[in-house]
Amino acid sequence: MLPEIRTAIPGPRSRELAGKLAKFEAREVTWLSADFPIFWERAEGTNVWDVDGNRFLDFTAAFAVSGLGHSSPVVRDPLLAQAGRLLHAMGDVHPAGVKAELCEALSAVTFERWNAGTGKTLLCNSGSEAVEAALKTALLHSGKPGVIYFSGAYHGLGYGALETGGLPYFREPFRAQLGSWGVQLPYPSCYRCPFGRSEECRLEGETFPQCSSSCLEEIGAQVLAAIRQREIGCLIVEPIQGRGGEVVPPKDFLIMLRRICNEEDVLLVFDEIYTGFNRTGKLFACEHFDVIPDIICLGKALTGGFPLAACVGRADIMDAWPVSQGEALHTSTMLGNPLGCAMALAAIAEHSKMETQMQAQEAGRRLKAALRGLRSPQIGDVRGAGTMLGVELVKPEGSPFGQLAAAIMVRGLQEGLILLGGGPAGNVLSFSPPFAISEEEILYLVAKLQGCLDELPEKLLPQE
Ligand SMILES: Cc1ncc(COP(=O)(O)O)c(C=O)c1O
Repeated sequence: MLPEIRTAIPGPRSRELAGKLAKFEAREVTWLSADFPIFWERAEGTNVWDVDGNRFLDFTAAFAVSGLGHSSPVVRDPLLAQAGRLLHAMGDVHPAGVKAELCEALSAVTFERWNAGTGKTLLCNSGSEAVEAALKTALLHSGKPGVIYFSGAYHGLGYGALETGGLPYFREPFRAQLGSWGVQLPYPSCYRCPFGRSEECRLEGETFPQCSSSCLEEIGAQVLAAIRQREIGCLIVEPIQGRGGEVVPPKDFLIMLRRICNEEDVLLVFDEIYTGFNRTGKLFACEHFDVIPDIICLGKALTGGFPLAACVGRADIMDAWPVSQGEALHTSTMLGNPLGCAMALAAIAEHSKMETQMQAQEAGRRLKAALRGLRSPQIGDVRGAGTMLGVELVKPEGSPFGQLAAAIMVRGLQEGLILLGGGPAGNVLSFSPPFAISEEEILYLVAKLQGCLDELPEKLLPQE
């Protein structure tokens, strides 16, 4: 449904609640300003209602979690049924039955589907923890502590995950407590080429995938050099970068990484926490590239709205973990929480249906075409896969225009649109809506975005 705005945005109740957060929440968490945020009361499908009764249209699926729609009965009904039976069990001692069912389903939907043997799972409470479980697994399996990661990468904010994070904003304040086992290498980006060749490629008319060879040769050489110089146990990569600005690498990138990892005996870890479960138009993004990882990290849409994530690895690799002698080496109080497991089981079944994948692909095609129809000198690039799309905003000389993205988020909210900015400079409008987003809703979005792009830049740019 289209938005319905009844009060000033934020409304009076949202403002009151913002006051409580200002007083009682650690101040780095929520961006509080005169026109941000709204507080959510309920949500259904593509819509969110705030505490003041305004109805919004959500183009984020709340951080790409609700691909199946907000409060989807697909996951809500199993959650409610499970809640009536069992809220919590003893995850690593006397687990809930659904934990075993989920581990089996995760194997079936990943390594077994890829004809790559059985998968074994470590369940976690957040994406960041799933990444850290993968890093620990790699150390146990290889005996080598080094980890290659990429610029622009976002793997979560726990210290282990942060060590492999490529966004300086999150790392810098904590640099003194980070380790020295991570090696950062450039992620290939056609629009902002780390080797400064974007313009050259554009002029020569080189486009994906022809352009892939020049930058990939250089990245491949850097990967090899890192492996030669450091004890590298694994390489962690997002098949398509999310928080880094919806960056799709050249097709051969993952194929090259797979080849090098095979040759050099390094584990390949895919972080599909954002891209997983049809977000990019395939069940997993690695399937666009026909590359199978050794370990895959999953979260977000895995449950459609419960803090549960998973590190799933090929059984022979996961068996590097010792057999439990009664004291788990890596666990947590809420491991395998039955509510999350019940939701994940239902979500996996729904995402595995061809109709779900086709719905996601169709929504992505329509949204991308609509975004490509926007006209503004401030649009540098429109990119992405499936319903994971980014519009990069630039100043006249091409530098990132983060203020414009922020202004569009605020103006969009007043028009009833929930939008997010991303990318290292916050200048990429990031879209990841529920798959059921309609044509009418997309048309509403682009009409409002076009209005913002026509009006806001001149207010933000210095006048000559
Ligand atoms: C690719 C990727 N990995 C890991 C994470 C961290 O997940 P969480 O926020 O659940 O810790 C995110 C979160 O946005 C992500 O996008």
